[in-house]
Amino acid sequence: MLFASSALFALAVLAEGAAAAIARNCTTNYNAGANVDYFVAQKAAAASIPSGSNVAITYPAAGNYKIVEDKISNSSYVLYQCGTTMPTTNLPANLAGVFEIPVQAIITTSTTELTFLELLDARSTIMYTTDKGLITSPCILKAALPALADRSGTLTTDETAAWTAATAATNLTIVGAFDTVTPSATNRDVKFPATGDQSATLARADWLYFLAAFYNQEPLAKSLVDQITTSYNCISTAAKSSAATLGSPDAYWASGFGGVMYPGANYVKTYLASAGGTASQVGAMDTGAAFNASYNISVASDVTSLDTVLKNSELFFTDAVSSLDAWFGWTGLKTTDISTYNVTRAGQIWSADKQSSALGTGSGWFNGAVVNLHVVLADIASVVQPGLFGSSYTRTYFRNIAQGEKMVTVAASQCADVNAASTLPAITCPSAITSKSVAGVVDWTGAGEPAYQYPGGAGRTVGASLALAVMGALVASMLAI
Ligand SMILES: *[C@@H]1O[C@H](CO)[C@@H](O)[C@H](O)[C@H]1NC(C)=O
Ligand SMILES: *[C@@H]1O[C@H](CO)[C@@H](O)[C@H](O)[C@H]1NC(C)=O
Ligand SMILES: *[C@@H]1O[C@H](CO)[C@@H](O)[C@H](O)[C@H]1NC(C)=O
Ligand SMILES: *[C@@H]1O[C@H](CO)[C@@H](O)[C@H](O)[C@H]1NC(C)=O
Ligand SMILES: *[C@@H]1O[C@H](CO)[C@@H](O)[C@H](O)[C@H]1NC(C)=O
Ligand SMILES: *[C@@H]1O[C@H](CO)[C@@H](O)[C@H](O)[C@H]1NC(C)=O
Repeated sequence: MLFASSALFALAVLAEGAAAAIARNCTTNYNAGANVDYFVAQKAAAASIPSGSNVAITYPAAGNYKIVEDKISNSSYVLYQCGTTMPTTNLPANLAGVFEIPVQAIITTSTTELTFLELLDARSTIMYTTDKGLITSPCILKAALPALADRSGTLTTDETAAWTAATAATNLTIVGAFDTVTPSATNRDVKFPATGDQSATLARADWLYFLAAFYNQEPLAKSLVDQITTSYNCISTAAKSSAATLGSPDAYWASGFGGVMYPGANYVKTYLASAGGTASQVGAMDTGAAFNASYNISVASDVTSLDTVLKNSELFFTDAVSSLDAWFGWTGLKTTDISTYNVTRAGQIWSADKQSSALGTGSGWFNGAVVNLHVVLADIASVVQPGLFGSSYTRTYFRNIAQGEKMVTVAASQCADVNAASTLPAITCPSAITSKSVAGVVDWTGAGEPAYQYPGGAGRTVGASLALAVMGALVASMLAI
């Protein structure tokens, strides 16, 4: 009861905030057939969306509506300006919903869209979220929004009633890339598949335009995409130029599930290349194509192939491995193998799960990294070309599990103003390294190994938690991570 009333209170406060924050600019003198263009600035900004993008926005001549398309799901949404008439003809074949915009009140069932919405100054329109344990946004936590049960599971009577009430009080529900719900012309779901857009790297920022269309915020989306792109390209230019002096380490990127190592998608190879690195090769002595296969560590021939890739690697990246012991479990390596591989000998095993929720299993990698592409690149470049950012750089998403680096949890107290739009994290673009004598660099063309050695060395007993704890503390104090 107490929870319900405080949730309602939060809702009322936010509804007021919404009225203040979103200038709806509803049309008051609509004259159908006059073809007045209500989206002049929006159309101009959306012209910057590349033709190959998975997002497209078209602005028909009628002037009062636009069509935003998600090419991954083959779904289009018709969005018409408030105060004008809902279009009923010439609708797209892949129509998945018709909405009056700017939308005022929404439900989110996933967490990736939260970061995008906060950048688009639309936080105040979020009325319900999902499991709080998955949220890594300080301001969404501070807003203390009511959470709805996962709709893809079996709902109790109360949970169903909560969903019915929430749906009646809102304009649409944003569902995640992996949500089982399929949008249709008769429901109010909008699928947001940004996490599933893994073909290219920078193109993932285009999903800002997709959500922006529902708020007439295309100009803000363009500004954000331009900032991300400029920062990304600047970091990449510096990193690649540094690689011309220092060489490129070979990096393997894989995720492990159920005894199988899955290779990173194309976009992670783009990250590695943009950071001045090289994707590890599959043949002996750094030959053959870049890694692209899955390896089942229960299959002898796969283990041989995995072994080759690892021997060709100086860096290992992954989305989320909790500890070094877990990594040994994934790869099937034994402690006696430590000296065989550069990644273990030099302690270069990086997991993207550094930023996490205080409760539950929320990961900033899944929530924020999908749009903060320049921050991800800076993190990776700081590993691939050490010395590029100097010793004061703090990584946001990656931690070194071989060095015992800990996760960093987010808290509501980190939110300065729950009513303010989020700003993009700013990365100071580094200068290219042009000399091998700069502090902190690794000369990958030479010995190819960082100066420090894997703590404990060969022969450490995996699973000895005391030894692990001591190692973590020792290394943390040595490296001040
Ligand atoms: C509001 O609508 C007018 C046209 O009626 C347009 O000129 C103006 O740019 C719009 N403002 C915003 C913020 O959308
Ligand atoms: C997209 O959906 C429409 C309508 O169902 C269909 O006609 C079209 O062939 C689909 N396009 C693709 C690329 O699958
Ligand atoms: C959108 O939701 C708000 C808040 O519940 C409501 O006042 C408004 O009428 C809704 N708009 C539409 C078009 O349903
Ligand atoms: C993976 O690499 C192998 C060897 O170069 C190649 O034959 C295969 O087509 C590649 N597979 C994919 C999915 O790219
Ligand atoms: C891995 O290989 C084992 C042994 O052949 C097999 O039982 C298991 O199903 C495989 N795992 C996957 C995910 O294919
Ligand atoms: C591994 O490190 C050694 C130096 O210890 C170096 O000679 C070798 O080239 C490295 N291997 C790879 C694949 O980078």
